[in-house]
Amino acid sequence: MSVQKKDIKIITTHQLQAMKDRGEKISMLTAYDYSMASILDDAGVDVLLVGDSASNVMAGHETTLPITLDQMIYHASSVVRAVRRAFVVVDMPFGSYQGNSSEALRSAIRIMKESGAHGIKLEGGSEIKDSIIRILSAGVPVMGHLGLTPQSIYKFGTYTVRAKEEEEANKLIEDAILLQELGCFAIVLEKIPSSLAQRVASQLHIPIIGIGAGPHVDGQVLVTHDLLGITKEFKPRFLRRYADLHDIMTNAVSNYVQDVKDRNFPNEDEAY
Ligand code: KIV
Repeated sequence: MSVQKKDIKIITTHQLQAMKDRGEKISMLTAYDYSMASILDDAGVDVLLVGDSASNVMAGHETTLPITLDQMIYHASSVVRAVRRAFVVVDMPFGSYQGNSSEALRSAIRIMKESGAHGIKLEGGSEIKDSIIRILSAGVPVMGHLGLTPQSIYKFGTYTVRAKEEEEANKLIEDAILLQELGCFAIVLEKIPSSLAQRVASQLHIPIIGIGAGPHVDGQVLVTHDLLGITKEFKPRFLRRYADLHDIMTNAVSNYVQDVKDRNFPNEDEAY
């Protein structure tokens, strides 16, 4: 169902909280460009995440580490120009917030000022506490991200499920509580056992958005290109593909190529 203009109510952090409070699930998807963001916004997605997964999906890098602050701002401003309803969150890229809270604040302010986004997301718990406090003190809404945190891939070594052992699960719960106490408006939990995600979502009052974290959380996020079947190789268990755009697009483009070769395009009606 597409959203009619008269029905449009802009999503805020308060509305996301109200959604959790009344038990309405939150939908969140990634967006990196104007055209896709318009489609997602019209389709009624509540939160658009300008994810640093743009590093993989848009630029073809193996990890999220290479994407820069300037590149994130470019993607974010394209998304913001398209959006009429959704809340737009931007990932702070690797190296723009860890270890130096003044630099973290500078990076967050650049994102908010130059892109017009509504909030930022960063990966980690107690180790980035100072950066979170500093950013929140400037009035910037902060979304946390725990569990599998792809910016730390070289520390983890793999993209497998996190927090299966008690020690890591306890640290995740402590971090989630800390993020809530600091004032984060929501937390993404990535690739952790469903039972742990359920525990966090029921213990915390802020919205918990899962990716590979099972159904017992307050909302779900996926990478749009995975959901639409544009990316083909990535097949984690948690992913549901709602379309097979890779094949549909390949077919359309090869038909175009054939028509050009066969002199079938353009025809008389398609010429001036
Ligand atoms: O960058 C991203 O796409 C993300 C989601 C996987 C949550 O952080």
